[in-house]
Amino acid sequence: MTQFQGSHILSVNQLNIDAIQEIFAVATRMTPYALRQKRTKVLDGAILGNLFFEPSTRTRISFGCAFNLLGGKVNETVGMETSSLSKGESLYDTARVLSSYSDVIAMRHPQAFSVREFAEGSRVPVINGGDGSNEHPTQALLDLFTIQKELASRGQDISGMHIAMVGDLKYGRTVHSLSRLLCMYKDVTFTLISPKELAMPDYVIDDIENAGHKITITDQLEGNLVQADILYLTRIQEERFPSQEEANKYRGKFRLNHNIYTKNCKSNTVIMHPLPRDSREQANELDNDLNSHPNLAIFRQADNGLLIRMALFALTLGVDSQLEQHECPVIWYSQKASI
Ligand code: CP
Repeated sequence: MTQFQGSHILSVNQLNIDAIQEIFAVATRMTPYALRQKRTKVLDGAILGNLFFEPSTRTRISFGCAFNLLGGKVNETVGMETSSLSKGESLYDTARVLSSYSDVIAMRHPQAFSVREFAEGSRVPVINGGDGSNEHPTQALLDLFTIQKELASRGQDISGMHIAMVGDLKYGRTVHSLSRLLCMYKDVTFTLISPKELAMPDYVIDDIENAGHKITITDQLEGNLVQADILYLTRIQEERFPSQEEANKYRGKFRLNHNIYTKNCKSNTVIMHPLPRDSREQANELDNDLNSHPNLAIFRQADNGLLIRMALFALTLGVDSQLEQHECPVIWYSQKASI
């Protein structure tokens, strides 16, 4: 049994299948609270330090919203320039100070392994919201939770599935974390599609091969999607390139639209993307003409992020067994049909 209470969540490598299933079980119990069918004040009085030193829409807001939905309050720090990090303060000192003001901290930072360095100075649990091109463990958990649900609705399991990952596999941290989680399952087939220069790092390939999974590496999209159960698209991570000119070389290289999907994929292939998708004309890796396609799971992914982050707060703060004890009714009009 993984000890969540009081623990940092920094990398998917600290998890095993039992821990993942425990997170998913708690996430599923969060559904009525996220749907506003019920409220719980289990974290009434608790404070989240939400530190985002890199742009974010989903991760930052859903961490905050997840904490609010459990009854807690959120203190936000957004952008390096509003923090004394910009005056040369160390991550250790920042963590030491801010952990006195918070019960748990979520953090995103542009440098790989910076969240781990920060956690060394923190006296409260730290959850990694993305550290450079290294990892994005909560995104990988919500991706896996989504994959499990989508495949279950088709009578399939994660073990035995075929995933095609497409785009910037070098700098895209979500595919690094998700691949490592998938290494814990059996008999997964990977098709990795990227420009050669943006290929999946060798250390991730080694993990996939050591887990005994089949792997195909290619720079061609068409012809390589026909077996995929899951098609996981990614954006060119322009913020990690040495220059915009360099990033421009790869924009628009791989695009999925309704026509390409219909021609190249099985009729039940699930379409995923961690978002944001780059909708500018020169990129547009996932076209709007698929927005109403039932196999497009991108917004279900984002919704699942709320459940996973609620579960991680409940587990790290040790209140997962007390949700119901602290329930109260929802008294305002609310009609959310699904999460
Ligand atoms: N998926 C994801 O990390 O999105 P944001 O950058 O908007 O948080």
